[in-house]
Amino acid sequence: MNKRVLITGATGFLGSHLCDRFIKEGFSFIAMDNFITGSEENISHLYQNETFSFINHDVTEFSSPKEKLYKKEHKDFSNYIKK
Ligand SMILES: NC(=O)c1ccc[n+]([C@@H]2O[C@H](COP(=O)([O-])OP(=O)(O)OC[C@H]3O[C@@H](n4cnc5c(N)ncnc54)[C@H](O)[C@@H]3O)[C@@H](O)[C@H]2O)c1
Repeated sequence: MNKRVLITGATGFLGSHLCDRFIKEGFSFIAMDNFITGSEENISHLYQNETFSFINHDVTEFSSPKEKLYKKEHKDFSNYIKK
């Protein structure tokens, strides 16, 4: 079974390396970050990966961030994730 994981702080130093590792191991995952210190360039190499999805969201906010979920059908990733 393909496990699905959530990686918070995904555009930071540790989180972006976790993204690389989970993709390499074949996991499906959602990356989450609010860019307070992270950088898009840390994850931009992952955009083309089928298993990659992203939510621009503050992990301390208890609300449903589903509407913010980036999936591959969004063509302009940079503009989308900064909303
Ligand atoms: N080349 C290197 O060796 C190198 C480079 C950079 C950093 N470091 C070290 O790595 C450590 C820092 O790495 P890190 O990954 O822990 O920090 P980080 O700041 O790189 O990553 C934290 C991530 O969490 C995100 N974030 C913070 N609060 C959030 C919230 N409420 N909701 C959603 N996202 C949130 C930030 O935007 C950021 O992307 C430090 O010890 C630093 O010295 C080493």
